[in-house]
Amino acid sequence: MGTVDAVRCLLCEPALLDTYGEELPLIDHLLQTAELLWEDGGDAELAVAGLLHDVGLARRSSELHHARDGAQLALSLGFSTRVAELIALHVTAKRYLVRTDERYWGVLSRESRATLVEQGGPLPITEVEAFESSGHFDDAIRLRLADDMAKDPLRGARRVEHLYPIVDRALASSTARQDDQRR
Ligand SMILES: [Fe+2]
Repeated sequence: MGTVDAVRCLLCEPALLDTYGEELPLIDHLLQTAELLWEDGGDAELAVAGLLHDVGLARRSSELHHARDGAQLALSLGFSTRVAELIALHVTAKRYLVRTDERYWGVLSRESRATLVEQGGPLPITEVEAFESSGHFDDAIRLRLADDMAKDPLRGARRVEHLYPIVDRALASSTARQDDQRR
């Protein structure tokens, strides 16, 4: 099965129709996140990281581990380590923003506030600098802010088919990146 087909299968799983405590089905949240990133000029890998960032929840991962499990899933589908890292960091970015931006609490949904403790609470001050200087910091924050905005039950979402060309493009750049690393 090709990767786009595998992503299609993944996004059709009935578990993605659950809301996981939010006000819209998880699939709509994922589509909105990807759309927001893409419409904001994000590249295909960033948009796909947005598309897949919470799929770990649908695999019954805990709040604590769903980011890491989603990252593993993205890698197994053939996406780059960048895509995986961005997925893995979306909870760290939330914990960072809670620590560093007092206005951010007002941005979080009620469910996101409720899950913060299970996710480890605000990022320890001793870890702030390391995160800021990590290579994926800017994109991880971008993904996180799109994640928080992508919870509008009235916005709806385009059909998932609309995103397949972006998935294809992300896969092509992931493959090119892996080829570069092998050289
Ligand atoms: Fe999310």
